[in-house]
Amino acid sequence: MKHPWVVLCTLSLLVPARRSAALGLHPTPSSPYDLAVSGNVAGVPAGGIGYLRWSDLRALPTSQIKLDGEFVKGTQTVTIVFLSDLWKALPVAPGSDTLLATCASDGYAAIYTLDFMARYRPFVVLEINGQGPDKWPPPGLAYNPGPYVISVSADLAPAAAGFRDMPHKKPWGVTQVEVARSADRLSALYSGKWASLSPDAEKGREIWINSCASCHKDPEGKFGGTKSGKPFQVLAAYAAYDRAYFERYVHNPQAVVPTAKMEPHPWYTDAELRQLEAFVTAGGP
Ligand code: HEC
Repeated sequence: MKHPWVVLCTLSLLVPARRSAALGLHPTPSSPYDLAVSGNVAGVPAGGIGYLRWSDLRALPTSQIKLDGEFVKGTQTVTIVFLSDLWKALPVAPGSDTLLATCASDGYAAIYTLDFMARYRPFVVLEINGQGPDKWPPPGLAYNPGPYVISVSADLAPAAAGFRDMPHKKPWGVTQVEVARSADRLSALYSGKWASLSPDAEKGREIWINSCASCHKDPEGKFGGTKSGKPFQVLAAYAAYDRAYFERYVHNPQAVVPTAKMEPHPWYTDAELRQLEAFVTAGGP
């Protein structure tokens, strides 16, 4: 049986959302709870940053939903703003189609296309049990997930249960979002030796973008998180010359190197590992 609260959160979503006014970006930060905004947005010079305050985000249309075990044991109520509503409220330049979220503390990154937003309804967490990030971590949680968390719930978007790399769409410690055109930002993965790929390598590229790119940069060092500190070429060399190591590392890094910091990805099938290898080695080892 479904949890009874599913009914409650469905109801709260039926409350018509206020039409959101365009958000104005502040030129300077005001607190550690600001969200930095960069990329293709009006009012932010190329390469520059504007700031949204927590109160700016809290004034957008929000919903309250119940999540189970997300931050602390049991059920918690979280106040959220859908990423698609944040997008609508931002002065986004035409042609933009992707939001990149990054975490300043560890260089982790997550990518959300407009398609992903429509299908899986990712949201930004503004409050946990009525408390904003200035009161985080909530009792029972040792690690501070703030200033922002993006997450996804299968109760809001049932399709989310079937999305392979959802753990990488739930970053904690988000400090910045970038409004981007995927054709520009992901160009290194679609041009040169990566312009025409085998069907397997194409599937591997999807996995790369939604998973590995959270911590690994692309071959030109243009797109992806910085958390791994390992150049693409190192991964390509492993995939080409020591496939067993590559596969074991992706599945469970700590089983190979006990001190490894990379997260395990036990859910990949042999076929998916082959697809990743086909993609990573497409430029030559
Ligand atoms: C959460 C961050 C993170 C993600 C996501 C991630 N990695 Fe890593 N990866 C790391 C870090 C950090 C290292 C450096 C070694 C270590 O501490 O594990 C690394 C190293 C590696 C290495 C080299 C191991 C060595 O001995 O030098 C390979 C191969 C690798 N990653 C493949 C992948 C692939 C393929 C994916 C996508 C399925 C992926 N990684 C996703 C963080 C990540």
